[in-house]
Amino acid sequence: VLDFILAVAREAGELLREGFGQKHEITYKSRADLVTDRDISSERLILERITARFPDHQIISEESGIRERHAHWLWLVDPLDGTNNYAHTYPFFAISIAVLKDDSLEFGVVYDPIHNEWFTANRGGGAYLNDQPIHVSAIKDVRHAQISTGFPYARWSATPNNLREVETMVMACQSIRCMGAASLDLCYVASGRSDGHWEGELNSWDSAAGALIVQAAGGSVTNLANRMYSPWDPFVVATNGLIHEEVLRRLNNKVVSGK
Ligand code: IPD
Ligand code: CA
Ligand code: CA
Repeated sequence: VLDFILAVAREAGELLREGFGQKHEITYKSRADLVTDRDISSERLILERITARFPDHQIISEESGIRERHAHWLWLVDPLDGTNNYAHTYPFFAISIAVLKDDSLEFGVVYDPIHNEWFTANRGGGAYLNDQPIHVSAIKDVRHAQISTGFPYARWSATPNNLREVETMVMACQSIRCMGAASLDLCYVASGRSDGHWEGELNSWDSAAGALIVQAAGGSVTNLANRMYSPWDPFVVATNGLIHEEVLRRLNNKVVSGK
């Protein structure tokens, strides 16, 4: 199954790479939440491939609405994670596909077509980048950590806008990054390129594949209350495990201090 998912992600990746830097039809879902014609064509391709091979599986995919959450086999698909980047020709975006079996994460694939990097994991197996095993970083102290985050599209209307949390973490960490594609941000934690990622308003299709990949790479993924990761929980905190407690403590306390 993992090979099939990867083949589909690559095919969709080719389509996105081809369209990168070209003019796009853009529709706005809200002030900062846009969708390009390539989100739609990538999604169409992925859904066609999945339904042809697994006609009785359920699929939740970003652009075609929410369907049944509980199914024996459930696919969570983001056909283009990092649409804002894509539309601005900022080369940081991915295709994210996760598969749940009886509500538990079974497979995860995140494919970055620009750098031709594929991150994969299956439950009980390890995590891989381009078929090579990866592991989270060994940083033990938040003061030496590079941590990423993201901001909700609904930040003008929703109360939790992440500003206070960023203020806290900027003072606590070595560096903060905001790259704009949550699935890849999580894979960067898995591969040790960063030491953590937190974000408050993620959808299941943004986080599921990346979360499984972080777990399989030896990291920790929870919500803000330290409850085990669930695709249906919008708050996701992923770290190398070693700094998890401290990151949670700081995000919860929101005290601005370099100590
Ligand atoms: C978004 C990206 C972004 C995150 C947003 C997501 P999209 O996905 O992952 O990094 O901050 O919350 O919605 O809309 O580009 O697929
Ligand atoms: Ca997304
Ligand atoms: Ca998307």
